[in-house]
Amino acid sequence: MPDTATLGATPPAAGQEALVTLSRPESPQAEAFRQLRATLPFMDPERPVRVLLATSTRDDEGKTATLANLAVALAQTGRSVALVDCDMRRPGLHLLFGLDNATGLSTLLQEGVPPGLPLRETGVPQLRVLPSGPQPPDSAVLLAAPAMAEVLRQLRNQADYVLLDAPPLVAVGDAAVLAPQVDGLLLVLKAGVTQREAAQRAKALLQRVNVTILGVVLNNVQPHRDAWRYFASQGRPVR
Ligand SMILES: Nc1ncnc2c1ncn2[C@@H]1O[C@H](COP(=O)(O)OP(=O)(O)OP(=O)(O)O)[C@@H](O)[C@H]1O
Ligand SMILES: [Mg+2]
Repeated sequence: MPDTATLGATPPAAGQEALVTLSRPESPQAEAFRQLRATLPFMDPERPVRVLLATSTRDDEGKTATLANLAVALAQTGRSVALVDCDMRRPGLHLLFGLDNATGLSTLLQEGVPPGLPLRETGVPQLRVLPSGPQPPDSAVLLAAPAMAEVLRQLRNQADYVLLDAPPLVAVGDAAVLAPQVDGLLLVLKAGVTQREAAQRAKALLQRVNVTILGVVLNNVQPHRDAWRYFASQGRPVR
């Protein structure tokens, strides 16, 4: 498996607080997301990675927060980013960016894909979001349908980077259905929580659906004391 990026995290309650790249840009956590951004061009030596999927072994490992912060970090370099909530079971991106979820990806897939997707502005320049929309009866069927391929085709034309937030692998087939449609996948694991066997099962499943695992993000790592010293020293002397 490729390199592991470590992200320090003291999870805040909800909303903007979790967007550390916006709320605490000088923090080691935000710096970790910028480092993750910096590794993107090197993740796949075969081809540039533009369409990226995040998944995990189980709920609550930090997929949504990781992808949203990576999206902000990419947008901060001036690249256009489309962040899409493909987790129709436990959607979270609309909450992070304060958007309503009355319509979104599920609406497009059920009612037809218009030319020019209705991406929502986020207040972050260059970053737009397509929320999940209401939960459909069978999201895996929708995500496997030709309409999803059309959504992805348009997204590739509308943004430099397309980041897809997906449900965990164990719960539903959605991530496995999406995986072959993207350039690569980030597996988000939670330090101290994800079981080794679950990570191994996830890796085996992804290898079966023939997706490139670009990297593993280890979330919830306590920031190393030296990291705090380094960032503290930017503004004031450190003992
Ligand atoms: N690196 C991080 N920094 C700060 N907060 C985080 C971080 N990662 C996760 N969190 C917080 O932990 C909680 C769970 O994270 P998140 O919603 O991103 O997980 P998830 O894997 O998308 O969960 P779900 O399976 O429900 O979709 C949220 O409250 C989120 O704000
Ligand atoms: Mg989520």
